[in-house]
Amino acid sequence: MKMKAVYSWLRSAALILICNVCFNAGYQLTELQVCALCSGTVRNGSAVGPFCSRSAGRIDGRCCFRNVNTSDPEYVIGLDLSNCSLTHVENLQEASTVLMLDLSHNPTVNISDTVFQGFSELNCIILPEDVDCPGGNISWEKVKVRDGNRLCEGQKSMCNQTGQLSMDCPENSLCAPYGPGFFECSCADSYRGYKCLREGEFPALQVFGPLAASTVVMCLLLWATQRRKAKSL
Ligand SMILES: *[C@@H]1O[C@H](CO)[C@@H](O)[C@H](O)[C@H]1NC(C)=O
Ligand SMILES: *[C@@H]1O[C@H](CO)[C@@H](O)[C@H](O)[C@H]1NC(C)=O
Ligand SMILES: *[C@@H]1O[C@H](CO)[C@@H](O)[C@H](O)[C@H]1NC(C)=O
Ligand SMILES: *[C@@H]1O[C@H](CO)[C@@H](O)[C@H](O)[C@H]1NC(C)=O
Ligand SMILES: *[C@@H]1O[C@H](CO)[C@@H](O)[C@H](O)[C@H]1NC(C)=O
Ligand SMILES: *[C@@H]1O[C@H](CO)[C@@H](O)[C@H](O)[C@H]1NC(C)=O
Repeated sequence: MKMKAVYSWLRSAALILICNVCFNAGYQLTELQVCALCSGTVRNGSAVGPFCSRSAGRIDGRCCFRNVNTSDPEYVIGLDLSNCSLTHVENLQEASTVLMLDLSHNPTVNISDTVFQGFSELNCIILPEDVDCPGGNISWEKVKVRDGNRLCEGQKSMCNQTGQLSMDCPENSLCAPYGPGFFECSCADSYRGYKCLREGEFPALQVFGPLAASTVVMCLLLWATQRRKAKSL
């Protein structure tokens, strides 16, 4: 086989590979690891079951999904990890959009608070009785203990509270909930930088312009050298 043909074949193969990667990336949401943390689907006995059927969520494994707009990717709204023999809960970030989460009937002793960082929509969590609500009782409207489960309902915003938990965001920035016990500060419109002290548009062209230019130059150089190599062979 001629070298030229080999290069052409390699290029096609690389292109197909890249396209496949891009294509699959768009559909990854439907195959979350967190939904397969244990076998079966959302259990009828869990509060997540009725919640999912009420919200007409598509069920896949231990998750149910919502899709408001068919052009947008779907996202997790319910996660039932009850009776899963979980001894520790480490990474649930894939399900950070979840509204209702069931972790009851697990031999879990304690859960680190940071697990739920970014879970700003989480509005109901069911835990084994001996596990405290994430962020403490102060992060929830209602805390109940019933049938060996602890129920934490209604996530409270940390942004508008007086007392020790009230932490002000810097001037020119807005406070937003960021999961039980967490908040985040984001610069208000047209402010940027450390502590949002600078005003003005983010200089996208100045920052990314040189990067784009150098990428183009690199690509051209590579292309030219490869071409010369191919010709000389
Ligand atoms: C769970 O509930 C659904 C709908 O109510 C029902 O069709 C299904 O048989 C139930 N499954 C079990 C295991 O009870
Ligand atoms: C769905 O998305 C499209 C395009 O992003 C938008 O034009 C449309 O208003 C959206 N529909 C709803 C119901 O949000
Ligand atoms: C948990 O699952 C086991 C079987 O896997 C079952 O025997 C048991 O009844 C379940 N417990 C609850 C509380 O549903
Ligand atoms: C859980 O509790 C045990 C002892 O009670 C402690 O050693 C461990 O550090 C705790 N883990 C977390 C994540 O808090
Ligand atoms: C949180 O509230 C529950 C129920 O009211 C109570 O049993 C528990 O001791 C409280 N926990 C803390 C740390 O105050
Ligand atoms: C809390 O929010 C309300 C409006 O939702 C506002 O009137 C009040 O001043 C805020 N309190 C604090 C301490 O920021």
